[in-house]
Amino acid sequence: MPESLETRVLFRHIDEPGLCRLETYERYGGYTALKRAFRDCEPGELVSEFEASGLRGRGGAGFSMGKKASFLPHGDMAKYLCCNADESEPGTFKDRELMLKNPHGLVEGVAIGAMAAGATRAFIYIRGEYAEIADRLDAAVAEAYDAGYLGEDVLGTKVDVDIVVHRGAGAYICGEETALLDSLEGKRGNPRLKPPFPAIQGLYDGPTLINNVETLMNLPNVVNNGPDWFKGFGTEQSTGTKVVSVSGCVRRPGNYEIELGIPSRDIIYGLAGGPPEGRELKAWYPGGSSSPVLGPEELDLPYSFEALAEAGSMLGSGAIIVADDTVSIPEMALRTARFYRHESCGKCTPCREGTNWTVKMLERVVRGEATPMDLDIIASVQENIIGHCLCVLGDAMAMPVSSMVRRWRHEFEETIARAREVAPAPLEPGPAAVVSGAGA
Ligand SMILES: Cc1cc2nc3c(=O)[nH]c(=O)nc-3n(C[C@H](O)[C@H](O)[C@H](O)COP(=O)(O)O)c2cc1C
Ligand code: SF4
Repeated sequence: MPESLETRVLFRHIDEPGLCRLETYERYGGYTALKRAFRDCEPGELVSEFEASGLRGRGGAGFSMGKKASFLPHGDMAKYLCCNADESEPGTFKDRELMLKNPHGLVEGVAIGAMAAGATRAFIYIRGEYAEIADRLDAAVAEAYDAGYLGEDVLGTKVDVDIVVHRGAGAYICGEETALLDSLEGKRGNPRLKPPFPAIQGLYDGPTLINNVETLMNLPNVVNNGPDWFKGFGTEQSTGTKVVSVSGCVRRPGNYEIELGIPSRDIIYGLAGGPPEGRELKAWYPGGSSSPVLGPEELDLPYSFEALAEAGSMLGSGAIIVADDTVSIPEMALRTARFYRHESCGKCTPCREGTNWTVKMLERVVRGEATPMDLDIIASVQENIIGHCLCVLGDAMAMPVSSMVRRWRHEFEETIARAREVAPAPLEPGPAAVVSGAGA
């Protein structure tokens, strides 16, 4: 594998045996950033460093980490930090490797982030299925307490930081930051109306900083090396490195750490080996299953927040899912829609109804019961979802589905025609059937 295409910062020592133990982590320089942050820095100074580094959130939206931290009010009220380790977006498995192999890297990042935000309580909300990783995090947290890196009066600095590892129950929606807060509070994990944003009114109504695992794991590197060093990687608007999860029709699926801005082709073909022998790439999700799907024409795009946004898609969680020419796009759209229908919390109508109707209509396409006009209806349902929901789960289905219907419409039409040849479509319903269907 051409390792030169990788730029390993978070992954630098990731395969060292025993890195999950404190002793080994410290041998590779672990907790030097925490010592500097707690002993030599003011919280505001750290927040400015994070902002100056250009570090953007690695969980999906790509918002400036430092700017978000700066929104938290000053004062003596109880503040919180929540690390989002729910990692449920299809195709995304980077946090899993980071936490499994380097739990202390996350504990250090969370402690530094909490100190910068003025939070004395931090939670790592981890998806329930990551049971083994949660145990490792618990062990790392216990070691950090014993070493004086956590708890009351960290390293004699009079600053307190506690970390609690909280296991979720396996709902994708609990990765949405406000649903995560409700779930942590012991309620059903439903998204909250925003504003107020969590930075102002979050966990237990207190100001709360919420960041993804990878975002927080970058903090020790920024503290150790400075914001300019961090900005030395990547592009002007997408600084640093990114761990990308590559899956689907590639020869070497896995996690790779790349400098942001390298050509997407280098990731898909150079690192992941491209599609198997004799097959061609047909489509790829650049940022998880909720990102609009791109084609071979976009392979030379820089893998950066701005380039993918300009191309009408997004970098999202950094999960690239590749489909080759053996994959049916209508089937892929259906599978995507089914996931979001299943995970919709049902709180708002466009998402609850829209995901359900999209699945039903795509099933008609695949069964050959649809007409080309139905494709316009599917597209219009997606338009009525995007921007009209309480959280972006609805958009997360509508964006990829509408991109597929728009771009591969011919394939949808061919699928309808082919399926009709095999199983003739039922007779067009009469007016009575239409009326009863509308009320069904
Ligand atoms: C339905 C849904 C699921 C999400 N799942 C995750 C997740 O598993 N992990 C994550 O970090 N962010 C997830 N997010 C994004 C979070 O709401 C939030 O933006 C993120 O945790 C902020 O961290 P960051 O700024 O470091 O990226 C999800 C968002 C939505 C709408
Ligand atoms: S968009 Fe979907 S998941 Fe989000 S609140 Fe509405 S129904 Fe729930």
